[in-house]
Amino acid sequence: MGRSPRIAVVGSANVDLTTFVHRFPKPGETVFGKEFHLGFGGKGANQAVAARRCNADVLMVARVGDDLFGPATIEHLKAEGVDTAHVQAIPNTSSGVAPILVDETGQNSILVVKGANDLLMPADVDLVSGALFQADCIILQLEIPLETVYHTIELAQSHGIRCILNPAPGQPLDLTRIAGVDYLIPNESEAEAIGGMAVQSSKDAAACAVGLLDRGLQRVVITLGSQGALVAGTDGTRVVPPFPVEAIDTTGAGDAFIGSFATFLAEGRSEGDALERASLYAALSTTRIGTQTSFLDRAAFEKERERRQ
Ligand code: RIB
Repeated sequence: MGRSPRIAVVGSANVDLTTFVHRFPKPGETVFGKEFHLGFGGKGANQAVAARRCNADVLMVARVGDDLFGPATIEHLKAEGVDTAHVQAIPNTSSGVAPILVDETGQNSILVVKGANDLLMPADVDLVSGALFQADCIILQLEIPLETVYHTIELAQSHGIRCILNPAPGQPLDLTRIAGVDYLIPNESEAEAIGGMAVQSSKDAAACAVGLLDRGLQRVVITLGSQGALVAGTDGTRVVPPFPVEAIDTTGAGDAFIGSFATFLAEGRSEGDALERASLYAALSTTRIGTQTSFLDRAAFEKERERRQ
């Protein structure tokens, strides 16, 4: 399949402070945690690392703080083999952090403090546009300013570069400004926030996705956790079946899906093949603890896939 695919991620980098609990505390209640795990996260960095571990050449455009976490994040991304030439530390600013709770079913609850991520501006993207235009695909999420997301989509569209938007964390969006993305990939709650309707089943997901197509989106993939994913376009809707696994920590599974899907597509695989593979890559990440620590490298992934054929 020729050279390695080139993926550019314009997005967030956080440090994840994950506590494993028997159950989530109620408001006003104190409960004991079972275990604590400190790791690198942030939806952008997670997607960059997933793509890199799937063997893409990855460029990241991000901002971190000048606290302990900022330089550590840059070093970590470098060690992963991600190009960090455009990841900058901002003076007198905290890095993005995410206190996370994971319960015994593997479900998570995440609070994000954006910190330096909120200072990645449209002008910063313009300054690195030459590097972005070399990419086969640009990936975006919503932990940076919305205006930067909209601007990058417009830039990608004007240069014919495939663009994937993972609208996470969920929030209402100006659909006219994201209509240029090739793929919009929300999970159920993010689809609800954008589509304005409840999404609890694949039937709801189909209705929501069709509504988004009617409002100008080109292709929508709604990830449905243990129910698989739904893909919708002008050719209709289709459910991508799930891979049954024993989940222990679902944090970052959506990011594993996006980073691997972008890579598989950029390798020249068909959409169906890329979706099936990304779905397995994400499912496997839920069987291991942590966010980026749960992402397999390509050789281990292919071995697992072969075992399941
Ligand atoms: O998608 C998981 C990620 O969400 C975590 O790594 C956390 O940092 C938040 O960005």
